[in-house]
Amino acid sequence: MSIRGFIFDLDGVLTDTAEYHYRGWKRLADELGIPFTREENEALRGIPRRESLLTLLKGRPATEEQLQEWMARKNAYYLEYIREISPADVLPGARELLEEIRAAGLKSALGSASKNAREVIERLGIAPLLDAVSDGNSVTRQKPAPDLFLHAAAQLQLSPWQCVVVEDAAAGIEAALAGGFWTIGLGPQTRVGRAHVVLPSLQDARLENLLAGLKTS
Ligand code: BG6
Ligand code: MG
Repeated sequence: MSIRGFIFDLDGVLTDTAEYHYRGWKRLADELGIPFTREENEALRGIPRRESLLTLLKGRPATEEQLQEWMARKNAYYLEYIREISPADVLPGARELLEEIRAAGLKSALGSASKNAREVIERLGIAPLLDAVSDGNSVTRQKPAPDLFLHAAAQLQLSPWQCVVVEDAAAGIEAALAGGFWTIGLGPQTRVGRAHVVLPSLQDARLENLLAGLKTS
């Protein structure tokens, strides 16, 4: 085993933007008179914008023009909410792990389905700790297709088997496994149980322990 790089999902791994996505979708759903709960929002973890909207609509008919307008409206709400994001919003353990990876001479990349990922990492102040960014604009096929992580690995000039993907979404773990990556799943077994290593979060996740855990997986 020779791990040379880490690819991090953003939402739910490095920061918790799920609440802002929820508030954006909820505001749109209220305006459209569609019921939408926090539980339903959980199912949208890692799911791209358009698919999230189609899930929220629950089969209600809509023209392409309406879909575009509603996606733009939700995104405007989301952009309004993420203005609040600051370095204090990096999830516990994430910055320390990024720093350890850099100090060990390994590479780090972002692999996020979000088209707003760059803005979020700038606001979090972690952009300088990432060697490459692959986001919702980088590939056409989104998770669970492996394309986004393959794009990130290519930017790092590494092969999938040399990289670990850190994810909190089932779709993200499937994408990474499909691409031949090592995987660390954050969250409940029911959601990320297919990952090589499962942890509740990155809190107290030291690089040495992660590498040892992957070795014995
Ligand atoms: C993922 C989030 O990271 O990005 C999803 O988990 C979101 O909830 C997706 O729908 C797309 O994000 P954006 O910012 O491009 O709408
Ligand atoms: Mg995520």
